[in-house]
Amino acid sequence: MTEKLADIAQAMVAPGKGILAADESSGTIKKRFDKIGVTSTEDTRRDYREMLFRANDAMKNYVSGVILYDETIRQKAKDGTTLVDIMKAAGSIPGIKVDVGAKPLAGPTSKIETITEGLDGLRERLAEYYKLGARFAKWRAVITIADGLPTWNCVKANAHALARYAALCQEAGIVPIVEPEVLMDGEHSGHDIDECYRVTEWTLRTVFRELYDARVELEGMILKPNMVIAGQKSAKQASAEEVAEKTLRCLKSTVPTSVPGIAFLSGGQSDEIATQHLSLMNAAGNLPWALTFSYGRALQAAALTAWGGKSENVAAGQRAFTHRARMNSLAALGKWDAKLEKAA
Ligand code: 13P
Repeated sequence: MTEKLADIAQAMVAPGKGILAADESSGTIKKRFDKIGVTSTEDTRRDYREMLFRANDAMKNYVSGVILYDETIRQKAKDGTTLVDIMKAAGSIPGIKVDVGAKPLAGPTSKIETITEGLDGLRERLAEYYKLGARFAKWRAVITIADGLPTWNCVKANAHALARYAALCQEAGIVPIVEPEVLMDGEHSGHDIDECYRVTEWTLRTVFRELYDARVELEGMILKPNMVIAGQKSAKQASAEEVAEKTLRCLKSTVPTSVPGIAFLSGGQSDEIATQHLSLMNAAGNLPWALTFSYGRALQAAALTAWGGKSENVAAGQRAFTHRARMNSLAALGKWDAKLEKAA
């Protein structure tokens, strides 16, 4: 492994910094825009993301890198500067989502279970993304908890694909974000926190076994897991302290210390709860890896609402985004406090 991969990975999880997941596919961003009454077009998607990437305080001080979607890594701002150059000027590293989505896993559980696709031609795509400026990538595997699920077939197939993706990334000089997400929301989310613990532990053990088999250098990757948390439809919700304690316990027993950093997804947690959980874990101290955020919804929801698709609201949207980025930066240091939210 070149020194560079490890350096990039370290920079992605530098103290007080985390990752902005802005890699919503065109289908997903349309759903977000629908909620605020904005038509999703190439231009509105560009305007929205340009607003975020030009929030200089956030991008410089709290955000280490941004996960982009294929369209965005090629896009230019209104003044002709590429969006990649805008974020680079603020000192933020461009990243790219390279999976092409979670598709039904053929077999008896195909109505619920998925396998993430995108390995075919990935070597060539990574080479192009590198030229476009990407220095890290993301691949999201989805594991659903339901009656008798997940199957071993689903856990194994997704872990194997993650390892093949990660090895290809490192070959291309790109740091892989390895994201095995055990879902907490959606139709099948009635499980409690202990069931989430059991499945997350099983999944992470399988992922690290596959990464080992593929000879992926752990020093040059970032893990992006779910927190250990009850499903949204569970009647038995866990306290923030329990989420923090069980998540740390699960990660300590499964994630090797040579992994430089763990950057959580938010997965459907509310903005403040996602921040609180991260802060509690960092406040516990004595962690073998950096622990930070790679949030999508929990970093963007407030900004989306404040913006509402209107150019006169760009400053308000940037303020909302910067506030959440700052709160999560404090959480990455274990220094967030609920009182700081009101000071916004
Ligand atoms: P959320 O934080 O909204 O879960 O998104 C993070 C992400 O990148 C999912 O792949």
